[in-house]
Amino acid sequence: MAIKYKFPEGFWWGSATSATQIEGASREDGKGINIWDYWYEQEPNRFFDGIGPEKTSDFYHRYKEDIQLMKETGHNSFRFSISWSRLIPGGTGKVNEKAVDFYNRVIDELIQNGIEPFVNLFHFDMPMELQKIGGWENRKVIDSYASYAKICFETFGDRVKKWFTFNEPIVPVEGGYLYDFHYPNVVDFQRAVQVAYHTVLAHAKAVQVFRKTNIKDGKIGIILNLTPSYPRSQHPADVKAANIADLFFNRSFLDPAVKGVYPAELVELLKTYSFLPKTEEGDLKLIRENTVDLLGVNYYQPRRVKAKENLPNPYAPFMPERFFDDYEMPGRKMNRHRGWEIYEKGIYDLLINLKENYGNIECYISENGIGVEGEEKFRNEEGMIEDDYRIEFIREHLKWLHKAIREGVNVKGYHMWTFMDNWSWTNAYKNRYGFVSVNLDKDCERTIKKSGYWFKQVAEQNGF
Ligand code: BG6
Repeated sequence: MAIKYKFPEGFWWGSATSATQIEGASREDGKGINIWDYWYEQEPNRFFDGIGPEKTSDFYHRYKEDIQLMKETGHNSFRFSISWSRLIPGGTGKVNEKAVDFYNRVIDELIQNGIEPFVNLFHFDMPMELQKIGGWENRKVIDSYASYAKICFETFGDRVKKWFTFNEPIVPVEGGYLYDFHYPNVVDFQRAVQVAYHTVLAHAKAVQVFRKTNIKDGKIGIILNLTPSYPRSQHPADVKAANIADLFFNRSFLDPAVKGVYPAELVELLKTYSFLPKTEEGDLKLIRENTVDLLGVNYYQPRRVKAKENLPNPYAPFMPERFFDDYEMPGRKMNRHRGWEIYEKGIYDLLINLKENYGNIECYISENGIGVEGEEKFRNEEGMIEDDYRIEFIREHLKWLHKAIREGVNVKGYHMWTFMDNWSWTNAYKNRYGFVSVNLDKDCERTIKKSGYWFKQVAEQNGF
């Protein structure tokens, strides 16, 4: 069959995961506790079906089998994260040699199987010892993070060439300090701003350390969840509302990471409402001098926005939503399981924006996928889950990605979220996202879904 959508040579095909979501073994071999282990102990009812991070999909013990499944699903690359609290149980100080050994084995096994490792340093999993002193609110944690990053670069940098400092750094800000879905689940805009600011500094510091470490052929980036912000109409009030949402949710990390500066409009807005973070001399220089080589883009859904209809309640906590209302566009396509809109063209729009306004930075799609409940009902007689909706979801996004590449966007790869069904924060195993299913009732038995076989073909043909 002729290939209509052919991707550039050397395109990275694969999937993305994170340590806490797949490893399990949360108390084994000297791993320290992170905020998820702790929070689950405190409030197990917060987690769907009461399932916590202690077991997850058991990648810690089954990584060899999983890497074979990656091969069977066409991966030439794979993103995973290092668990900070596994590597340095106290967050700072002594390194856990068993963790070094584990990540060495994973990296070697990937490389031996022709799969390029993409390594992320932080995926929502703050070591509890550091959270006790305030986590990202505490400036000292920036140095702890930079030391952790240095250890990772020095230990694994001989083989790992693609590095990322953070995955979706805005999510712990939103979840932990605004909307109550991550620990420490407080609602406080000023603290949220400080956490976001310290995360940007920690990122820049890690980039600086990376450059000093001088990893041969190494590149470093950050992974951001970009949500193109569409106004309800071209009315100036709607457009302004969409711009403000864009400033808060995209540009607050995108601009400092790629351009080395904060958007002036964002600074002005925070100043007007007296929410500027505490800063120190040299901070802005650090950010300016340490921009990324590479950007990971997670894309799931757009944001649709309209001008505020009612004046904000002066007694309610200050929130970004003070400046806009969400807009439920009539007729939009939804993934009803997750409540997220499906808008394939969004991936194209955001990439064109990177080309036009961010120097056509080298980028890749680092997550994109669809979470579905109750997939067991699609299992056929041979035992395979027929997830045609996932194939359609990926295919339609890839078409827009292909168009962006044809128009000159510098995209180097596509990683689906996620490799196998995994534990997902407070949603635990509610929504399944994997190419490979994981049966929790049968000792985490893995079976490749139809989408996994389809993806293998796409990867092997470098198109479809
Ligand atoms: C991404 C995160 O934003 O969304 C993942 O990087 C997460 O860690 C994924 O699992 C899906 O989210 P959820 O809540 O539907 O599982």
